[in-house]
Amino acid sequence: MTERQLVETIPSVKGRYNLQSYESAYSTFRWDEIKTQFTWHQTGNCNLAYEAIDRHAQGSLKNKTALIYEDDARKEKYTFEQLSQISNRFGNLLLKLGIGQGDRVFFFMPRNPEIYTGIIGTIKIGAIVGPLFEAFMEGAVLDRLADAEAVAIVTTSALKQRIPRDKLPHLKYVIVVDEQEQWLPGEIDYRQEMAEASDELDIAWVDLEHPFILHYTSGSTGKPKGVLHVHGAMIQHYITGKWVLDLQDDDIYWCTGDPGWVTGTTYGIFAPWLNGATNLIRGGRFSPERWYQTIEDYKVTVWYSAPTAFRMLMSAGDEVARKSDLSTLRHVLSVGEPLNPEVIRWGMKVFGKRIHDTWWMTETGAHMIVNFPCMDMRPGSMGKPFPGIQAAIVDDQGNELPPYRLGNLAIRTPWPSMMRKIWNNPAKYEEYFRLKGWYISGDSAYRDEDGYFWFQGRVDDVINTSGERVGPFDVESKLVEHPAVAEAGVIGKPDPIRGEIIKAFISLREGYRETPELLEEIRLFVRNGLSAHSAPREIEVVGKLPKTRSGKIMRRVLKAQELGLPTGDLSTIED
Ligand code: WT7
Repeated sequence: MTERQLVETIPSVKGRYNLQSYESAYSTFRWDEIKTQFTWHQTGNCNLAYEAIDRHAQGSLKNKTALIYEDDARKEKYTFEQLSQISNRFGNLLLKLGIGQGDRVFFFMPRNPEIYTGIIGTIKIGAIVGPLFEAFMEGAVLDRLADAEAVAIVTTSALKQRIPRDKLPHLKYVIVVDEQEQWLPGEIDYRQEMAEASDELDIAWVDLEHPFILHYTSGSTGKPKGVLHVHGAMIQHYITGKWVLDLQDDDIYWCTGDPGWVTGTTYGIFAPWLNGATNLIRGGRFSPERWYQTIEDYKVTVWYSAPTAFRMLMSAGDEVARKSDLSTLRHVLSVGEPLNPEVIRWGMKVFGKRIHDTWWMTETGAHMIVNFPCMDMRPGSMGKPFPGIQAAIVDDQGNELPPYRLGNLAIRTPWPSMMRKIWNNPAKYEEYFRLKGWYISGDSAYRDEDGYFWFQGRVDDVINTSGERVGPFDVESKLVEHPAVAEAGVIGKPDPIRGEIIKAFISLREGYRETPELLEEIRLFVRNGLSAHSAPREIEVVGKLPKTRSGKIMRRVLKAQELGLPTGDLSTIED
């Protein structure tokens, strides 16, 4: 892209905050001013969980529904006061076990209300939450718990089988939330302990820089990295919840993200509750009928989901959408992958609303580039930097590039929800700032002359399948653990619904022959060893993989061949 093109514009709408214009919001914005909206701002001693729940429980929102939970088996509602008491009990449960500030407590469960009250309770005592996605298999669970040296994990009797306690010397307690016949040493009966625990808790007042959550995410090399965030992130959770999610305390808000990923915590827990909104959580499997019905049943007003979900709804047909009353929706948002203009046009038709794209990452902790109501929208663009965020496109030396030049999407530090560390790996952390101190996102993009940012792809080999970030190295490492696999190279292959699917190229060891059964066995091996979303949907057997002379598999060559594109510079290839 080198010059201005005629772009489609969807004009601004009226948000509840009635910001005058993007430009005036951006030019007058100061993070320090947002801080003054919190009671702790004079002391600096705070607690994110207190601000999200207890502040409301002690005020006028005390009896307001804070959490609506629904899955195929459970339908429950909790007020702010109830969430305050249950999370206090959980905090006391942890304290009784000797768990305290800075200790890592993991959550490994299918979605249920106990995750939400447990996360709040853990943060209240100053401990660090480690959320895991329920689909993780033993290898994925082990990597994360071992790296974080977790002391406790909250889980179910079914999922605990995937926690290899013999390989985790630091893990003292397995807190099991449901009933089971036999309790092993170190297993804690959640129900019994919660019944005995007090509703009153001494909240840990911590510094703004005190950590509260550790989210593991994938890069293109090495094991998953633990991205650490601090309580001060609440400043950004709160203000982006107000301006971007456009939340007020009478909203019914539904974020479809699982707390195993950062969308499901920042925007599935903290932003809505900091703003006093009613937060709807839906467990169970995706189905277009059920999702539309959920909007009707609970009169959802603000809805945050992802392009893959929108594309699946779109392909289910507009008939299905018409069966439910979607008229309560007033604001719809998307995150995680590029949002196709076609999906936005579809959204205008079935919801009568714009779908607002937002761009950010696990590492940034909260929104960075956004669309909010008072902004004109350009379908295909991620929007403009949130006020207080300075974003740019830089070249490989860290020099800023002019409009329409493709380069690294970079952000000037700091901002409140910025990660503070990669757990156990200071070198990985420093890598993000290698170009003149900019935070380098790993995405490539360009900026137009009006300041809109346009996503183009990843700079590295990280795969984005249905909005889930998968490291090819992780999958390759698992593949070569299979006795039949000699070598493996893994890429993201474009897919109309999922954005990308995982495709693996493998070479077989002597004595193995390619059969459909063997390929299926290899696929299941990855699925059962890592997780369902890491398993390759396609596996192709090749004689030899393209490698550099130093033996590194050249994924970009595999990708170019797959797409029928020129393979580019091959000067470093082996032969
Ligand atoms: C990567 C971050 C934090 C949200 C969930 C994903 C891609 C994210 C967009 C968007 C195009 C997007 C980027 C980014 N991504 N939002 N609006 N348009 N791509 O968090 O797992 O840390 O992944 O997701 O490639 O780097 P994550």
